[in-house]
Amino acid sequence: MIKVLFFIAICSMASFSADSENGAKLYKKCIACHGADGMGKKSQKAPMVAGQFEWYIQEQILNIKTGKRENNNSKKMIPYVKNLSDSDIADLSLYISQLPKRK
Ligand code: HEC
Repeated sequence: MIKVLFFIAICSMASFSADSENGAKLYKKCIACHGADGMGKKSQKAPMVAGQFEWYIQEQILNIKTGKRENNNSKKMIPYVKNLSDSDIADLSLYISQLPKRK
């Protein structure tokens, strides 16, 4: 019984909503290419990501991580995302989606 309750507790923690504070910490590794404000960098061929839909960001990070989205540019990003867990990716996606868009 205790084991079952423990299992339920772990599951509910895993499905707990994304944490943009953790996302902000993780985003530090992305700044070199995407900019602190998420505006991207032409020199790195890194696109603007600020204010993009959360679900879209999440999907792209996953696709780049798994190699589903692969080209000479996206390859540069793999070392930075290959060790991210699903919940880290969710946290990052929430954080990035909340950065203000360029007007
Ligand atoms: C070495 C530079 C570099 C780093 C560091 C980097 N990226 Fe990227 N990122 C890119 C490039 C280049 C692309 C465009 C890939 C393409 O052309 O398909 C990209 C694409 C993306 C996209 C897809 C955007 C779109 O509109 O489809 C997202 C989301 C993204 N990066 C998030 C991140 C996150 C989050 C991190 C940090 C964990 C990160 N990137 C770190 C270079 C980088």
